[in-house]
Amino acid sequence: MRILAVANQKGGCGKTTVAVNLACALADRGRRVLLVDLDPQAHATAALGVDPAEVHQNLYDVLTASEDRQVTLDRILIERGENLFLAPSAVFLSAVEQELSGVPGREERLLKAIRGLDQFFRYIILDCPPSLGLLTFNALRAAGEVLVPVEPSSFSLRGIQLLQDSVEILENASGHALRVYPIANNINLRTRFGRAVLEEIRQRFGERAMKTIIPPSTRVKEAAALGRPLPWFDPSNSATRAFKNLAWEILSQEEEPEIKALEERIESQASPHLVEEGQVLFRYQDPQASTVYVVGEFNNWTPNQEARLEPKGQGLFETRIDLKPGIYQYRFIVDGRWVEDPENPRTAPAPFGGVNSVLEVRGEKEKTQEEAEAAS
Ligand SMILES: Nc1ncnc2c1ncn2[C@@H]1O[C@H](COP(=O)(O)OP(=O)(O)OP(=O)(O)O)[C@@H](O)[C@H]1O
Ligand SMILES: [Mg+2]
Repeated sequence: MRILAVANQKGGCGKTTVAVNLACALADRGRRVLLVDLDPQAHATAALGVDPAEVHQNLYDVLTASEDRQVTLDRILIERGENLFLAPSAVFLSAVEQELSGVPGREERLLKAIRGLDQFFRYIILDCPPSLGLLTFNALRAAGEVLVPVEPSSFSLRGIQLLQDSVEILENASGHALRVYPIANNINLRTRFGRAVLEEIRQRFGERAMKTIIPPSTRVKEAAALGRPLPWFDPSNSATRAFKNLAWEILSQEEEPEIKALEERIESQASPHLVEEGQVLFRYQDPQASTVYVVGEFNNWTPNQEARLEPKGQGLFETRIDLKPGIYQYRFIVDGRWVEDPENPRTAPAPFGGVNSVLEVRGEKEKTQEEAEAAS
């Protein structure tokens, strides 16, 4: 069982959005998932279509249980779909901090409540409130890993410093080794600002940052307001695709040999990239896709047999194309839909609307010239 907390003391950065939609995307991949709503605002509870006011028992009852009033976690679980369960919150949860004040072991209540659920769940996702109080400490004691959503409005040099500080606080506060992964949320890679934010996250956090980037989408808010996880509300949405990729990324960290082998095949560089002299690897990842073509200025925008990406299993498609040095615009055609390359931040406006992805293939000569310039 893996326990992942979604935490950041900054409010409104996307903790609940990531927790709910990741939980749903993992459930869709056949894993049994429990989403624990640790926030008295109960946004995750509502986002899964449960009215907190209608819930008979919630996490408050579990965390404040005593010898003569025992409420175990399994007693409050609500099934919300195939493989997806919710431990609901309620406004009462805000009283936990005061009620348990001075009680020994108060930071381990959730950990103890989760013990014994091993055989039922493969993943437990903890949606934390926007503070570093007792509820978040309970999450960090229980979790082995933490996802920290980062969105652009909290970004400036000060924002980055705050994030760095909070990662350190999270690591220290947990009292045990914790893997912390920043995840970029609500970032529009079509804007220069979006790309700059991403670059900064990657520079600061390197390999620790999740490779998936969640784009902005109006459907995120709509789905939450209607109490449906986004992947079930709008399966073809761009943010849905990102959450599926995020689930895939999380799953690929598991020790299973077939997932590991696949992970090793995927280079960390963004697609597309030069694999050999004159040959470019194009890659597209979507577990729901069945046919994927790459079309562009190099093949006259024609989805012929050579343009088809080969399915490699687990939603990964790849092909290699011989390209001369130059700058090319291209797009993928995924089950008949024209989409830009989600892994390539470089885009240009397309003549018939939307954007094309842009690829630059450099020649040896050009590179040497550039290197010579850099050296002088
Ligand atoms: N990728 C996105 N695209 C569009 N809207 C988003 C996206 N991510 C989050 N939002 C919106 O931003 C708001 C804040 O998101 P969310 O509630 O997930 O943040 P949070 O960190 O859980 O907030 P809190 O700190 O209050 O718990 C919500 O209205 C949500 O719908
Ligand atoms: Mg929240």
